[in-house]
Amino acid sequence: EKNGYDHFMLKEIHEQPEALKKTLAGRVDQATKRVQFEELQWSLERVEQWDKITIIACGTAYHAGLIGKHVIEELTRTPVDVEVASEFRYRRPIIDEKTLVIVISQSGETADTLAALRQSQHLGANVLAITNVVGSSIAREADEVILTMAGPEIAVASTKAYTTQVLVFYLLGIYLADLKQKITKDYRIQLLEAVLDIPNKMEELLEYSEALQRYSESIKDASSVFFIGRSLDHAVVLEGSLKLKEISYIHSEAYAAGELKHGTLALIEEGTPIIALITQKEVNEKMLGNIKEVKARGGHVLGVSMKENMEMLEYVDEGCYIPDSLSLVTPLLTVIPLQLISYYTSLALGNDVDKPRNLAKSVTVE
Ligand code: F6R
Repeated sequence: EKNGYDHFMLKEIHEQPEALKKTLAGRVDQATKRVQFEELQWSLERVEQWDKITIIACGTAYHAGLIGKHVIEELTRTPVDVEVASEFRYRRPIIDEKTLVIVISQSGETADTLAALRQSQHLGANVLAITNVVGSSIAREADEVILTMAGPEIAVASTKAYTTQVLVFYLLGIYLADLKQKITKDYRIQLLEAVLDIPNKMEELLEYSEALQRYSESIKDASSVFFIGRSLDHAVVLEGSLKLKEISYIHSEAYAAGELKHGTLALIEEGTPIIALITQKEVNEKMLGNIKEVKARGGHVLGVSMKENMEMLEYVDEGCYIPDSLSLVTPLLTVIPLQLISYYTSLALGNDVDKPRNLAKSVTVE
């Protein structure tokens, strides 16, 4: 059932292009170049009832939500909050009938996310669920459901569920922006083409994992690994760092690169591995400054950037390229090397990759 792969995680990493294609199927009208969600059928009137969006989830799904916030705010100019479910439910959240709540849960059974869904409905909000499991508690109780078509995810460390969730946010962002007439037709087409092209670019990326395997061997004895990025790259490094901690058990932190000097820089020493995402061109110069900061303290930097941005890789110790793409959609590409690094590091350490210690696939306790 592992289809020739050594672990479910590696199999699932490689299934991502297909999972994305399945999640896209039927959701893009080729003739009109529009996003269509049979399951939503929202009118402009309906959408305009909501003056803000609150996204609620846990763990990796929360990280997908952070990308969702960036995309929806960028494309629709609607304010979006993202909250961890276990925090949301124990305070007095400001939610009412004018809020669209989006809960994200691969399993559809996470206790805290389910409780947040119920609380939101109780406060009068409409709840849309993004989930991978038909008939799960969250799918049954939500007002509307968008299914990710990732197929069963067995490895505890989530990979294809995350990328399909992020994909749904691109589609949803484009769908809402179109309804509200916030983007031009040309931009909409450009965005859709970039999204439709992702599965092929992922395939391309997945072919080159040897260098990442070597890199993973080199960090396996590190006491700490740092991930840095700005803007969308920051959301992606949070996921990369979680993945590494989860299965390699190496301590790791993900930082908005501009925050380093407010504390974390004190932890960088000779040889500390730093993984820097550098795909958002408008902050290239700023990232460069941050890379210099860590290098000046002896940090060893792996830079991940697009081919068209490769001059940035002159300043790092090692480089990893992703195919050129619209900067808004790069998270679906940069996360691939980060998933592979965590996989190969865990493997090099002889850990149980698919079943890391202390963790369960579905967290049905509070
Ligand atoms: C990490 C991971 C977890 C889950 C979290 C939420 O790899 O898988 O952080 O993302 O437990 O689970 P779901 O999405 O099932 O609600």
